[in-house]
Amino acid sequence: MTTVHDASSGDPIILDSPEFLADPFPFYDRLRREAPVYRTKLGYLGDTEIYVLSRYTDCVELTTDPRFRRVVEGAPPLPIPESLKLISTDTMIFKDDPEHLRLRKLVSRAFTPRAVARLADRVEAVTNELLDGFTPGATVDLVTDYALPIPVTVISEMVGVPEGERTQFHDAMNLVIDGVTKYGIEKAAAEMEGVIDYVRELIARRRDDPAEDILTGLLHPAEDGDRLSEDEIVAMVFLLVAAGYETTYTVIANGVAALLTHPDQLAKLTAQPALITPAVEEILRYTGTIGGTKPNFSSTEVELHGVRIPRGAIVIPLLASANRDPEAFENPDVFDITRSPNFHIAFSKGQHFCLGANLARMETRVAIANLIGRFPDLRLAVEPDELEFVPLPFWRRLNSLPVTLN
Ligand code: HEM
Repeated sequence: MTTVHDASSGDPIILDSPEFLADPFPFYDRLRREAPVYRTKLGYLGDTEIYVLSRYTDCVELTTDPRFRRVVEGAPPLPIPESLKLISTDTMIFKDDPEHLRLRKLVSRAFTPRAVARLADRVEAVTNELLDGFTPGATVDLVTDYALPIPVTVISEMVGVPEGERTQFHDAMNLVIDGVTKYGIEKAAAEMEGVIDYVRELIARRRDDPAEDILTGLLHPAEDGDRLSEDEIVAMVFLLVAAGYETTYTVIANGVAALLTHPDQLAKLTAQPALITPAVEEILRYTGTIGGTKPNFSSTEVELHGVRIPRGAIVIPLLASANRDPEAFENPDVFDITRSPNFHIAFSKGQHFCLGANLARMETRVAIANLIGRFPDLRLAVEPDELEFVPLPFWRRLNSLPVTLN
């Protein structure tokens, strides 16, 4: 029988320890085999216990099981100050249907084929502009010099940030993403007020001067007359920024790193550019960029693999572990850009399945295809074991990716 392991067991697995964050895959392997339901704690959630699921089938079931919800009365509150609620727990990713579905429908309408096609044109243009600026033979940091500006441009286009204000917007986005870890919750909350005011200004400008962008779409009522309130639009803009910015640049950089450390796969892709579509799916599966979803709460007591999960407990599916489960994928630790089928859950599943999945796929495809099209003999400028990851729980993000352009 499988028993729950927790921090008091002989050889505990600490999800935010330096060893785990440096290379989580051997730990995921142990969790799947020895403790598929694992009770532990995470620094940022304080003393609250969490349960993590590591097997593919369990993760898929959790994301579609109505017993697990984002809001459960009486569950321990998430440590978020009142002033940050509008842009965090008030967003749809922290809500359940039907409130979640109402918001999701209203925002999905704004992702019209026309608005998305415009974004694809911008991604083509911005990647080409960046590549034009690179000198053959030079060494660049692919994270800051290439991967990062791509989603910054896309998100700026989505919400109508003019060219001249993009650096300022980029700084504001960094504050939204890293502010709490970097400055502590109080300072971040105070700084955020200015960012919220700026978003309100963007909304006011679009009311006066509509465009063919996503923000304009968010201002329009649906056929049934329902519409987002001003605060709901602010919350949605923050969610799109937070969900679409760090994820995408991280996947692009992790994808390039995976290709450069698997030269046979890179050679295959260079020889057959059409493989970029399955290659992006394999990058999403293999790199394990996002460790798990936002916290889910158990609305009732649940028993799984002999472990009792109490009502109100936080339960998180470890998506990155599920995607390396040998029960679901043949040779899961092999990076194979032709893998088929590839039913990874890097975008999760169920109600909260990533709204931007197709946009993210497009951005990653164009970014990587154009980069290797232009510099087919691209090389890592450091040894593979010198690549370091930012020590962030549930994230796998490179500090930098130095490459030589050839
Ligand atoms: C490769 C890049 C991306 C990855 C790996 C990714 C992954 C995910 C995952 C795992 C979730 C589920 C989170 C949860 O259940 O707690 C999610 C949700 C979401 N993603 Fe993405 N995402 C990416 C890019 C984007 C982009 C570009 C956008 C839009 C601009 C976006 C918008 C969203 C939104 C709005 C949600 C919440 C959906 C809901 O609550 O119904 N994502 N994403």
